[in-house]
Amino acid sequence: MHDLHELKRRAGEAIAQAKTLDALEAVRVAYLGRKGVLTELLRGLKELSLEARKTAGAELNALRSHFEEIIAQRRGQLSVAAAKHVFMFDPTKPGTKAHTGSLHPLSQIDEMIRSIFISMNFSVVEGSEAEREFYNFDALNIPPNHPARDMWDTFWLKVPEHNRKLGRWLLRTHTSPMQIRYMEQHKPPFQIIVPGRVFRYEALDASHEFNFSQVEGLMVGSDVTLSHFKFIIETFLKRLFGDQVMFRFRPSYFPFVEPGVEVDVKLKGSWLELMGAGMVHHRVFDAVHYDPNMQGFAFGMGLERLAMILYNIPDIRLFYMGDVRFTRQFS
Ligand code: DAH
Repeated sequence: MHDLHELKRRAGEAIAQAKTLDALEAVRVAYLGRKGVLTELLRGLKELSLEARKTAGAELNALRSHFEEIIAQRRGQLSVAAAKHVFMFDPTKPGTKAHTGSLHPLSQIDEMIRSIFISMNFSVVEGSEAEREFYNFDALNIPPNHPARDMWDTFWLKVPEHNRKLGRWLLRTHTSPMQIRYMEQHKPPFQIIVPGRVFRYEALDASHEFNFSQVEGLMVGSDVTLSHFKFIIETFLKRLFGDQVMFRFRPSYFPFVEPGVEVDVKLKGSWLELMGAGMVHHRVFDAVHYDPNMQGFAFGMGLERLAMILYNIPDIRLFYMGDVRFTRQFS
């Protein structure tokens, strides 16, 4: 009896004085471990008579529960202290700002353009970046040696022998070839836009990239006129620049439209050229075997140019540098 009293006192003291979780664990092992003091005592019970074993056993087991309890308590206290030590949270300190990702400005513009045209019942279609000379040029009324080919400096592709029967291949210089591909597969009336990446064999500077993005538009039907185009483009520009936007059509030349126009917008006092457009040329309809009385308008614009105007971006090369200091400004 006396021994157990002493044992309880000593163990209680050791547990209370353990300063770390490791020290506490050492105390636990010393008393309750496989060779611990209390474990040895419990093991010794079998030497006693049945009567003595009953009382001593009950006392020892009570003691063990008691130890387990106060060790668990002490462990709780020490854990809190340890956690505080590692993670000293000071709510008065300024926090660290977490960086969130943001969409590239071109993706944002692309998204805006798609949603505006979708709201006007246009479908969105896409074409491939490697294209046949026929679709990029010939079918768009730009035959070989046509001087207008100079408008599009071209990356020509080397293709394997078995593909040469389809003529020469290139990286599309504009999204217009999808006009032909779409019309080959669909009957009017329809209205589509074609967003996509295009390529030109050009020297880089602040306003020239050899790879950039365009959106093509095409609406065809037996009674489609230039005034339909005017309404569509006015709606588009108002959604993009606000209701006060001023725009004008200027006569221009593209082999695949007649008449051809250029659309300018007035921003901060000056006129900026935004897109080429016009009424689809009858030779283009011929190329896809449409009824010669069919009518339609087409337009094409550069996304980078639009983004540069909308966001005041001074250099087209910034779009493709992959510098997050640039993209982060558009979150
Ligand atoms: N494809 C022309 C270019 O890249 C832009 C263009 C002009 C597209 C007039 C059109 C159009 O559809 O009608 O320079």
